[in-house]
Parts: sequence; structure tokens; C-alpha cells
Amino acid sequence: MVKEVVKYYDALARDYHQRFGYDQENDLEEYNEIRHLISDMFVDCDVLEVACGTGYWTGKVSRIAKSVLATDINKSMISQARKLLSGHPNVTFKEADAYSLKSIPNHFTGAITVLWWCHIPRGKVAIFLDALHSKLKPGSRVLHICQLEDLDSENHRQDSDGNTIALRKADSRVYHIIKNIPSEHELRKALSRVARDLQYLRYPDFGLWSVAYSL
Ligand SMILES: C[S@@+](CC[C@H](N)C(=O)[O-])C[C@H]1O[C@@H](n2cnc3c(N)ncnc32)[C@H](O)[C@@H]1O
Repeated sequence: MVKEVVKYYDALARDYHQRFGYDQENDLEEYNEIRHLISDMFVDCDVLEVACGTGYWTGKVSRIAKSVLATDINKSMISQARKLLSGHPNVTFKEADAYSLKSIPNHFTGAITVLWWCHIPRGKVAIFLDALHSKLKPGSRVLHICQLEDLDSENHRQDSDGNTIALRKADSRVYHIIKNIPSEHELRKALSRVARDLQYLRYPDFGLWSVAYSL
């Protein structure tokens, strides 16, 4: 199922930006709240982004951060993000698997993931968080943003490990991808070992939650 997520987004890379409305201006109040959260958290930080996709949020972070290393497992996504952010000299890219972040340095003072948490199998949440946190200095600020619900929930099923599996189509193939929606309680529990000053927020009009904390 982890591989299905990789393959699905690889197939989607060329259309992803448009399909998710990233090529349009967004004037929702809650969207501005998220932008302000990013601005407040990452001023002058060296930020590691995991699963950057086509780089929409990378661009927002790069406006206030000292540097951003944007990573994704799919070359196809990184190549779209490179095109989008060619005029952002403080952004660099690297292919990396979120569960190992192999060959990523460990000097970062901030980290962000957007629309990534829902794709993590329950059994790999701790593995992902350990990999991410091992790349950050003490006191770093971390922000995860993801969905409050899966809008395309037809044909959902549960696997034997308690993961929600959703069906998605791309390039006339069906993909069985993990689509877990964590509750606030589950997020707090997963982060309780390491997170300080944890703040959980919901943006119902935008369909997103955010969790921000310090290490
Ligand atoms: C829903 S997209 C989110 C992209 C971007 N953060 C955004 O908000 O638009 C999920 C991303 O996760 C990436 N991905 C899937 N599996 C991954 C893995 N094991 N490690 C790193 N990235 C992965 C996909 O290539 C895709 O770009």
C-alpha cells in the first residue's frame, strides 16, 4: 500500500498542480490563517519539507525561511516543483523516502509536511516521525497540515491493520492508497514523546487540520 501511494502520485505529477487548484488564487479566510501560521513559524529557519509534491507550499515557506530543502520520493513531482520555483534561490530539492530520509543532513531548524500524514500507515507513523525529528536541531519548529476528511470516500475499506484504503484512478489504472484521517487525540498521542507547546487547529471551510509544535 505504501508503494501504491508512490505510484499513484507519480502518475498524477503532471496534472497535480491544476487538479488540486494550486494554479488559482485562494481567498478563503482560513487559507490566510495557514499562511500566517507558516510566516510566524519559519522566519529565518532552515526548513526541511517532506513530500513536497509540485512545490506549492514550498514557495510559501521560502518567502520567509532562510532556506528550504524540499524532498519527495517521486522524481516526477520534484521536476514539476523545480519548474515552479526556479526563481527561488533559497530552495533546493532532493529525492528522499519519508520513512528513512537517507542522505538528508541533520542541521534543520524547521520542518513542514502538507497533505502527507493521511498517507502514512498506522504502523509507520512512529518510524516517519523518528526519521523526521532526527534531521532537526533541538528547539526546531514543526508543522504538519492534512485533511479533516477524505472527500472521495466512496469504496473506502479498512485493512487488517486499521488503515483506511481508498480507491483512486489515474492514467486509467486504479490505485489502492492509504487514506487515514487522524483524530486530534491520535495526533497528540503520536507526538507526545517529543512535542512541546503543541497547537492543534482546524480549518473546516478549507477541510484541513494543522498541528504545530517545538522539539
Ligand atoms: C498529496 S501529495 C502532497 C504534495 C504537497 N505536499 C502538497 O501539499 O501539495 C503527497 C506527496 O507524497 C509523495 N510521497 C508518496 N510517498 C512518499 C514517500 N514514501 N516518501 C516521500 N514522499 C512520498 C508523493 O510523491 C506526493 O508528492
